[in-house]
Amino acid sequence: MWPGYGFEVDDPAAPPPLTPGGELDRERLFGRRAPLVVEIGSGMGEAVRAMAAADAGRDYLACEAHVPGVANLVADLADGGPANVRVAAGDALELLRRWVPPASLDAVHAFFPDPWPKARHHKRRLLRPDRLAFLASRLAVGGTLHVATDWAPYAEEILAAVLAEPRLHATHEGFAPRPAHRPVTRFEERAAAAGRPAFDVVAVRR
Ligand SMILES: C[S@@+](CC[C@H](N)C(=O)[O-])C[C@H]1O[C@@H](n2cnc3c(N)ncnc32)[C@H](O)[C@@H]1O
Repeated sequence: MWPGYGFEVDDPAAPPPLTPGGELDRERLFGRRAPLVVEIGSGMGEAVRAMAAADAGRDYLACEAHVPGVANLVADLADGGPANVRVAAGDALELLRRWVPPASLDAVHAFFPDPWPKARHHKRRLLRPDRLAFLASRLAVGGTLHVATDWAPYAEEILAAVLAEPRLHATHEGFAPRPAHRPVTRFEERAAAAGRPAFDVVAVRR
C-alpha cells in the first residue's frame, strides 16, 4: 500500500514526486492542487484522519518518525480513510527543508510534540524559537500554525516564542480556546486522565 500513500524522507532511492525545481510535486502526490496542511508528529494518525475527513478542500501531509504510527495511518487510509491524506515517514524538519518552499503551506499542525522535560534535552524541542521561525517561514501569508501540548511549562514557552516571532500573530492574547475541529486523541485522553489538560496555541503568518 505504501507507494500510493507515502514516501520516506530519508530514502534517496525513492524520493517523493518532485517538480523539475526540486519541490514536492503536490499535483502528483495528491492528484490535485489544493491548500496544503502539514502535521508534524502525527502519531497514530487519529487527528489528521479526522481533520482531513472534515476538510475535503485541503490536502494533508502527515509526517511521523515512528514507523508503527506511519503503518497505522497508512492502514487506516487504505481502509476507507479520506483521500486527501499522504504520509511522509521520517523527520518533518528535513522534509520541510528539502522539498517545501518558503511561504507555501496553508497550515502547520503539531499536536502533543514530545515535551523533552529535562533541561539538557530542551534543545531537541520542536517548537524552540529558531525552529518556530523556520516553521513560520514555510507558512503562506495568512496560513495558520496550530500547536497543542499537555506539558504546561512547554506550553508557556511555545506561547512566548510565538508572541516574540515577528512573522506570526497569535489569534489570542494567551492560549486559544480548544478549536472544535481538533479531535481528542488517545494520547490526549491519557494526559487528561493524568491531570494534564491540553493548551492550544494558534497563530497566523503575517
Ligand atoms: C507525543 S507524540 C504525539 C502524537 C500525536 N500527535 C498525538 O497527539 O497522539 C509525538 C510524536 O511526534 C513524533 N515526532 C517527533 N519529532 C518528529 C519529527 N521531527 N518529525 C516527525 N515526527 C516527529 C514522534 O515520533 C511521536 O510520535
